[in-house]
Amino acid sequence: MNLVELRGITKDYRLGRTTVTALRGVDLVIQKGEFTVVMGPSGSGKSTLLNIIGCLDQPTAGSYLLDGVPVGERDFDKLAEVRNRKIGFIFQLFNLIPVLDVIENIEFPCLMRKGEREPASSLRRRVEELAGDVGLTPFLKHKPDELSGGQRQRVAIARALITRPELVLADEPTANLDSATSEQIIELMLKLNQEKGVTFVFSTHDPRVMHHARRVVHIADGKIAPQADGEARSPGAVTRAV
Ligand SMILES: Nc1ncnc2c1ncn2[C@@H]1O[C@H](COP(=O)(O)OP(=O)(O)O)[C@@H](O)[C@H]1O
Ligand SMILES: [Mg+2]
Repeated sequence: MNLVELRGITKDYRLGRTTVTALRGVDLVIQKGEFTVVMGPSGSGKSTLLNIIGCLDQPTAGSYLLDGVPVGERDFDKLAEVRNRKIGFIFQLFNLIPVLDVIENIEFPCLMRKGEREPASSLRRRVEELAGDVGLTPFLKHKPDELSGGQRQRVAIARALITRPELVLADEPTANLDSATSEQIIELMLKLNQEKGVTFVFSTHDPRVMHHARRVVHIADGKIAPQADGEARSPGAVTRAV
C-alpha cells in the first residue's frame, strides 16, 4: 500500500529576480512500513523533499498523494490537520522546548491537537511507556539542557511518535551527533519501525549510516537517481543507484 506517492515534483524558490530550483521532477513511492534513507550532499534537496512530504511546504509542480488522497487539493487548515494526525517530525537541531521537562516535551503535540482530548492519565501512561521504549526512563524530569545530544534526540523521537503517526520524517537527525550516538539513534528508529510498523523517512549526507538502511534513495542536484525496477519497491532492498 502506497503511503506517499510523488510524481514529477518540482520546487522552485524565488529570491528576488533569481529562481533556485531545489527539486527537478522527483518521482518517489514509499510504502507503508518502509524505512527509507534519503542520501545526498548538502544542498541536494533533502530538506525540501521532506518538507513537501510532510506538508510543511507545497511543490511548484507535480502531484502528491498521501495515503491515496491528493495533497494539493486540500486547503491550508485541512493540511495542518493532516500533518497533525498523520505525520511526526524529527529535526537536526532537536527543536525541544527548553522550559519543559522530558515528559512535557513528549506530550506536547497531543496538547496542541484540536478535537477531543485524551484523558491526562492515559496520555501520561503512554508518554512514560514511550520514554521507556527510547531509553529515557531515568530522565523524565530533566530539562533539555540537562541531557546529552543523543538523549535529546531520543526525546524528539518519542515526541514524534506520541501522536501515533503513520509517517515519521527525520531530517538529518544525526547531523549534530557523534558517530557512535548516530548509530544508536538509527538502530532505535529501525527498532521502532520494526516493532511498531511506523513508516520512517530519514535524510542524511553521511554515507556511514547507509549500511543500516534497508532502502536508500540517492538525491543529487534535486533529482533522485534512477533505481532498478522492483528492487526499489521491495521492503528490505538496499538500492545503490549510481
Ligand atoms: N527557503 C529557501 N529559499 C531559497 N532557496 C532555498 C530555500 N531552501 C532551500 N533552498 C535551496 O534549495 C536547494 C536545496 O536545498 P535543501 O533542500 O535545503 O537541501 P539539503 O537539505 O539537501 O541541504 C539549495 O540550493 C538551497 O540553497
Ligand atoms: Mg537539509
